[in-house]
Amino acid sequence: MNKPTIIAIASGKGGVGKSLITANLAIALAQAGKKTIAIDMDLGGSNLHSYLGLPNKYPGIGDYLVARHGRLEKFLLPTSIPNLQFIPGDGRTPCMADLEFSEKIRLLLAIRWLRADYILLDLSGGTSHHTLDFFALAPTGLMVTSLEYPSIMNFLVFLRNFIFRAYERELKNYPGVPELLKEFRKVPMDKQMNTQMMVERLAQHHPDAGQKAQEICQRYRPKVIYNFCLTPDQLKICQKVDESTQSLLSLWLEHFGCVFEDRSAREASYRSVPLLPHYPDSLFAQRIRSIAHNILNRWDGFSLDSAQQLREEATRFYQSLSSKP
Ligand SMILES: Nc1ncnc2c1ncn2[C@@H]1O[C@H](COP(=O)(O)OP(=O)(O)OP(=O)(O)O)[C@@H](O)[C@H]1O
Ligand SMILES: [Mg+2]
Repeated sequence: MNKPTIIAIASGKGGVGKSLITANLAIALAQAGKKTIAIDMDLGGSNLHSYLGLPNKYPGIGDYLVARHGRLEKFLLPTSIPNLQFIPGDGRTPCMADLEFSEKIRLLLAIRWLRADYILLDLSGGTSHHTLDFFALAPTGLMVTSLEYPSIMNFLVFLRNFIFRAYERELKNYPGVPELLKEFRKVPMDKQMNTQMMVERLAQHHPDAGQKAQEICQRYRPKVIYNFCLTPDQLKICQKVDESTQSLLSLWLEHFGCVFEDRSAREASYRSVPLLPHYPDSLFAQRIRSIAHNILNRWDGFSLDSAQQLREEATRFYQSLSSKP
């Protein structure tokens, strides 16, 4: 079996639907015949099990980290969905207070050795160091945001903090650079201070640090899912998001999918059942299957006009709903 595709799922703000989307994307990939593992990495707020219709009584990542040795495979649980396994978070053994960076690397390496086609990591909302580090360490990142202004702002703050965290970790050995980064952190990100200006200042200080800083921005291409969408028109905001991330952060995004607000989410939650198998024709399920299709078919096919493409695709989908009898 080839190495798994590992996808870390994060958000700038809590409550935007990360766990629900992670659980159902994992189900959709498993239903498409891919061996899939969903891992609850929201240590401190684990609840991915509930979206998979499982009780919170099994050991998971918390126990693995506290034990400091042992095999991660031991914590794999079967689910009611063929091809889908699950590793719980730290519901039973809270452990995250002071996780060293080396332990995070150890955990990610153990995850890489799991046998699967796809491994989805449900991270906690917001910009804790743990979330930023896991997002950076995983080979690819998917971000979820709702389309409301505060959520979009927190999404941009997440990416800004993510860049800073990567700079602070990877450039820390260049003399004087940590102090310079501390200074940059105090300045709000706007036209007076953007990533490109930081790169130039770092390069004046130390050419290699400038070069590396530039490479860090080029290395990441976060994919974005917009949740709680009401109409495709709302996706006009993607273009503005692009302008901000490119001009302020020198980051290029891929607008990867949108999910409409749908009451089947609440109904599945009240019944404690996984959404996709129980509401296969719901709006939510249809959109999740379309995103799973994108993961399967164009995960590496980054396109520069993905904002426009997403809006067109969502509009076609929306129109097809109203033309159905
Ligand atoms: N598209 C949607 N339509 C309707 N309800 C939704 C949708 N997406 C998510 N929800 C609901 O929103 C609530 C929050 O979702 P979820 O727990 O997945 O958020 P989260 O981002 O993982 O939160 P946290 O950061 O606290 O872990 C849940 O009640 C979920 O059922
Ligand atoms: Mg969650």
